[in-house]
Amino acid sequence: MAWYFRASLTMNVLLLVGTVVIIPPALGCYTSIIGFGDSLADTGNSYLNALDHHDKPFHFFFPPYGEDFFHHPTGRCCDGRLIIDFIGMFFLASSFAAESLGLPLVRPYFEILNVNETVRNFEEGANFAVVGATALDTDYLEKMGHYNEFTNFSLRIQLDWFKGMLSPLCNTASDCRDLLSSSLVLMGPIGGNDYTHALFAGDRFQIVRTFVPVVIEAMASAINELIEHGASTLLVPGNFPIGCLPAYLTLYEGSDESKYDPSTGCLTWLNKFSEYHNEQLQIKLSQIRSLHPHANIIYGDIYSATLQLYQSPKQFGFTGEATKACCGGGGTYNYNSSAQCGLPAASACANPAESINWDGLHCTEAANRWIAKALLYGNYTMPHISTSCVSQL
Ligand SMILES: *[C@@H]1O[C@H](CO)[C@@H](O)[C@H](O)[C@H]1NC(C)=O
Ligand SMILES: *[C@@H]1O[C@H](CO)[C@@H](O)[C@H](O)[C@H]1NC(C)=O
Ligand SMILES: *[C@@H]1O[C@H](CO)[C@@H](O)[C@H](O)[C@H]1NC(C)=O
Ligand SMILES: *[C@@H]1O[C@H](CO)[C@@H](O)[C@H](O)[C@H]1NC(C)=O
Repeated sequence: MAWYFRASLTMNVLLLVGTVVIIPPALGCYTSIIGFGDSLADTGNSYLNALDHHDKPFHFFFPPYGEDFFHHPTGRCCDGRLIIDFIGMFFLASSFAAESLGLPLVRPYFEILNVNETVRNFEEGANFAVVGATALDTDYLEKMGHYNEFTNFSLRIQLDWFKGMLSPLCNTASDCRDLLSSSLVLMGPIGGNDYTHALFAGDRFQIVRTFVPVVIEAMASAINELIEHGASTLLVPGNFPIGCLPAYLTLYEGSDESKYDPSTGCLTWLNKFSEYHNEQLQIKLSQIRSLHPHANIIYGDIYSATLQLYQSPKQFGFTGEATKACCGGGGTYNYNSSAQCGLPAASACANPAESINWDGLHCTEAANRWIAKALLYGNYTMPHISTSCVSQL
């Protein structure tokens, strides 16, 4: 089955562009990427779901979102591509062909559903990530008084979609295992919203900090379940240095200079909180490794990969103010929660590639490209992810 669908994909590509060279799958390549997560990974699910249901549009459905690569909004919280798009370009055998056609590599689940091409497209992977998604179930968070204004599609629901898509593709458990074992599973980023929503709703930090073990447990439970279904390579990113985000810098803006890291301008205590989440996640991942010694469970140190950009922005071509959003409604960090990027009261900088941050909460495409590069070629994955067949970017 795998051969048939790959062959038909190749034929389609050859028919469309006769000159494209198809790189055959090689060792270390994956036949598909399966993604879970939040706005840092959503390639269109929130957007397509809202269109289908005629829901009220979110600010990121409007220009200038998407302006630098897709030239129109796609539902990505970015001016262009996300880390998952770059990882798809690096790893998928068909990446040269797909990129030259301008195709997104890891298709959103809701797009696959709409066109009813479940079987063929699953061969190329599927992305279940949704903007605003939490690791914890919505009813759990609601019991603590937190209503999610973006989505109720938590990690558990994303996993249910995945299982629903998997079952028509394989008759036996061992079929499923074969299908999944050649896939790269991207588990996240996820978990950041569990904290962000609560902190922005005014919860005390000491309370929010107690969510960490439960959030990690929810991630662990999803990882264990995927491995039991046959996933054999999982890349699990940690949390970003949230103390560098314009939205947080605005929320906690103050005159106490001792709270800021002088080398970056980021809020130290918030970055320490991300470090705490990441330490707990890594402890949990090593426990999962000992339960499943045959699975390759890779921690992605997105925290350090991103922090290096803030530590020496100019070295990476970021000549704008590092802690200021490119697109926003003004203020010290160009972030105003009542005038978010995409709304008429906000505007974008002339050259987003000079900024690390796009809209106050998410990186620009230029930063995402560096972070993806750091994960794949730098010392930011543990154990180191194999890049033996990866295409150079
Ligand atoms: C989707 O495709 C399958 C297989 O071709 C078919 O059985 C099913 O009826 C289709 N569903 C819809 C909603 O078109
Ligand atoms: C999430 O579910 C609650 C009910 O539990 C509902 O009131 C709310 O509108 C839902 N939120 C979204 C964004 O769909
Ligand atoms: C934020 O944006 C709103 C809506 O445009 C505006 O009324 C308000 O003055 C802005 N706040 C700041 C601090 O600039
Ligand atoms: C890579 O990272 C590990 C763990 O942080 C560290 O022990 C090692 O020295 C680093 N290697 C290089 C070449 O930087």
